[in-house]
Amino acid sequence: MTHRQNWFEGWRLFALLGLTLTALCIWIASMRQFDVDGLRMVIRFTARTSLLFFCLAFSAAALARLWPNGWTRWQRRNRRYLGVTFAASHGLHAIAIGCYAVMDPAGYAAATSAASYIFGGLGYAFIIAMTATSFDRTAQAIGPRAWRTLHLTGGYYLLFQFTVSFGKRIPDMPLYALFLIPLAIVFALRMISMAQKGARRPVQAS
Ligand code: HEM
Repeated sequence: MTHRQNWFEGWRLFALLGLTLTALCIWIASMRQFDVDGLRMVIRFTARTSLLFFCLAFSAAALARLWPNGWTRWQRRNRRYLGVTFAASHGLHAIAIGCYAVMDPAGYAAATSAASYIFGGLGYAFIIAMTATSFDRTAQAIGPRAWRTLHLTGGYYLLFQFTVSFGKRIPDMPLYALFLIPLAIVFALRMISMAQKGARRPVQAS
């Protein structure tokens, strides 16, 4: 298929995006000679790139159903690869967090809490489980029902986690409210699409 042969489709798309994100993280950290401030910039950068790819993956099915066109069909077709790119972006978030903890233990302890370990840890557990089941063979192994339950629960949990992580910074930095807009849009799109799907379903005779 021609789709699979270009760099904007499938695993090639993932490779392109993953390498670009990695290069950008190295470049950002190098601007500060890989010091603690540079690592914190990478943590913030990857949180934001994760938000972008999460929103693209989690809105894909709803958008393709509500507005079928070339772009939404591309997004729906590549939903898996956009989701795995989100996971890679959050892998870079984790690497930068690990480096921060080693280089500045006191600053790191002040920036984190028991709650960030519990909620963040659960977020990473979902990301790992969802990534592990993003391959044909592993998705088939758990079956469509378990796959849907895992990806739906994990998706909504991550939506909640992004909302809390950006939201808690609003009192100090009001512009952080802007990050909540794409999250609210994704949630609304999923609700509208679900309502339309429900309305179209034929009523079963009892
Ligand atoms: C145990 C797991 C995690 C730890 C220890 C952790 C740690 C951190 C730290 C220390 C910062 C602050 C960086 C700074 O301002 O210098 C940060 C920022 C952030 N993290 Fe994480 N994180 C974790 C998991 C997650 C997860 C799962 C998500 C989302 C799904 C997430 C989303 C964010 C966001 C949105 C920010 C704010 C970025 C910004 O200021 O623009 N984190 N994280």
